[in-house]
Amino acid sequence: METVLSGIRSTGNLHLGNYFGAMRNFLKMQHEHHCFFFIADYHSLTTHPTPEDLHRNVKQVLVEYLAAGIDPEVATLYIQSDVPQVAELYLLLNMNAYMGELERCTSFKEKIRKHPDNINAGLLTYPVLMAADIIIHRATKVPVGKDQEQHLEMARTFANRFNRLYKVDYFPEPYAYHFEGELVKMPGLDGSTKMGKSEGAGNAIFLADEPSVIRKKVMRAVTDSGPGEPGAPMSQGVENLFNLMKVLSGGDTHTYFLDQYKNGSIRYGDMKKQLAEDIIAFTTPLRERILELSADEAYLSKVAKMGAEKARESAGKTVKEVRNIIGFKPF
Ligand code: TYM
Repeated sequence: METVLSGIRSTGNLHLGNYFGAMRNFLKMQHEHHCFFFIADYHSLTTHPTPEDLHRNVKQVLVEYLAAGIDPEVATLYIQSDVPQVAELYLLLNMNAYMGELERCTSFKEKIRKHPDNINAGLLTYPVLMAADIIIHRATKVPVGKDQEQHLEMARTFANRFNRLYKVDYFPEPYAYHFEGELVKMPGLDGSTKMGKSEGAGNAIFLADEPSVIRKKVMRAVTDSGPGEPGAPMSQGVENLFNLMKVLSGGDTHTYFLDQYKNGSIRYGDMKKQLAEDIIAFTTPLRERILELSADEAYLSKVAKMGAEKARESAGKTVKEVRNIIGFKPF
């Protein structure tokens, strides 16, 4: 049995990318491994949410984890800020994280490009906080989407550096994981290669989207004027739709439309209608559970409390040992 950990930032509703990149992994693993799943609310502070938004988003992610099928009695499902030991380990790891490597991190460079007016130190040290999240439970498997691969590499660097510095073999190396082997990168509907929470309107399908919203988004998805000469490369927008179809409609439907694309008879409108209905069939039971759970404050409070207790116990043990290794010894 391995220790598995994964997190989702509380910056809004979850989308199909989150589900297929990360959540589906958790669901598969929770009964076989020692699993920790958490809501990264410290991380969400880099974008300065209002207290109301912060709380609403944390609740939404908690509800969506549960709606997707995480069993809080089996796995440890918790909110990051309920475990202050994470903040202490983050501080300790920051002493051995170097400016150069943090500045070179792709996600940091991307943030600078997108939000040049808010380049805060939390963004720079984001991968250190992520490493703390992971190694505080000494996790080895981290189910994530492809966009988190570099963060996992950095987590390994920080874990190994700690071991070397203090001549111990304390932290195991954590690896990004997907049960199908390859890490997943779910495309957006707007022709961009990634579905993301902070992309433009129409990029993402959220698990809680109403069927009418899903139909509208899919029908407006970016395509092109039709297949080119046989063998010509597929446009990104159309490739994205085929990739979404493969995952959500299944192989037969995907092949059916791909054959039509190849012989030039495809009508993108028909393909989109099919894809929209398949997405709706997939999200409807989730959306119903999301609505049900959102109203059950007592249950959510019980789950959060139980998760916090279990996570604090595991994190507290690690931080105690780390303090001892570093030399913070009691007098
Ligand atoms: P976040 O909240 O951006 O995304 C949560 C998970 O969803 C995956 N994901 C995707 N997978 C495939 N295709 C997509 N289009 C797509 N979009 C998102 C992400 O890879 C991720 O697995 N920094 C993390 C949260 C975090 C964390 C951690 C994760 C904080 N500490 C420790 C794992 C371990 C984040 O912002 O993910």
